[in-house]
Amino acid sequence: MSKEFDKFCNQVFYTENLDGAGRWLARFFEQVIRKENTIYDNLLEVGCGPSWIGLWLQKKGLCHNLHLTDINPQAIEAVSKTLKNNNIKATTYLSDLFNNIPEDIKFDCIVSNPPNYFDIQDSHSVYGYLSNDIRPSDRDWKFHKEFYKQVARRLTEDGVIFISEINMYSDTVVFLNEIYDKRKRPAIDDFEDMIKSSGLIIKDVVYLTKSTNEFKVPVHLIKVGKCYE
Ligand SMILES: C[S@@+](CC[C@H](N)C(=O)[O-])C[C@H]1O[C@@H](n2cnc3c(N)ncnc32)[C@H](O)[C@@H]1O
Repeated sequence: MSKEFDKFCNQVFYTENLDGAGRWLARFFEQVIRKENTIYDNLLEVGCGPSWIGLWLQKKGLCHNLHLTDINPQAIEAVSKTLKNNNIKATTYLSDLFNNIPEDIKFDCIVSNPPNYFDIQDSHSVYGYLSNDIRPSDRDWKFHKEFYKQVARRLTEDGVIFISEINMYSDTVVFLNEIYDKRKRPAIDDFEDMIKSSGLIIKDVVYLTKSTNEFKVPVHLIKVGKCYE
């Protein structure tokens, strides 16, 4: 870890139950978003948790105004503490997706490390207990469906979304040789349908990594935006 990132992580207040692996993903988001050569006016992190991702992007100068939202009051309390303790400016919203975010703000960048699993198997001997945890569990893609239904009208005309997905070309996710998640079909097929229905398009898919995460599953970042035809 770089010293700068280490120092940054020490500033981010969190409790274990809020950790959704954003600390691990933050620099991947930065690497990909930096290549856009843009400083975003209004960047929103949806499902921010303690907000390693949004806060790091802001720290690295990739946005002017940072907006953070989560449905979990504890996440918003934690992130508010980080903001206060470190004198950082950002706007927070306790919100189920976009419901409590004023309609008049449009975002030119939205990032999210969303709940990634469609049907976590509670029979999994180590991680089955997470089947109802709102960090990983997105039963029947409820979060994803609603996110894509609402997101287009929250984006500026040239706005972009970067969303991380786990093992999205597969209909199963295996951890420790046991099935952890069962999907009806490869997750990307469902996401493509949702994105198409929202009037948006996939602009890029970046393979982040397989080898460095604990579970050795592929992680991708999908870039989504408006189409200009
Ligand atoms: C995978 S965790 C990511 C947390 C954090 N961003 C990170 O990277 O560590 C997903 C986050 O989405 C939040 N979440 C779940 N459903 C949500 C909803 N309907 N609206 C907003 N946030 C939601 C959870 O509370 C959780 O913080």
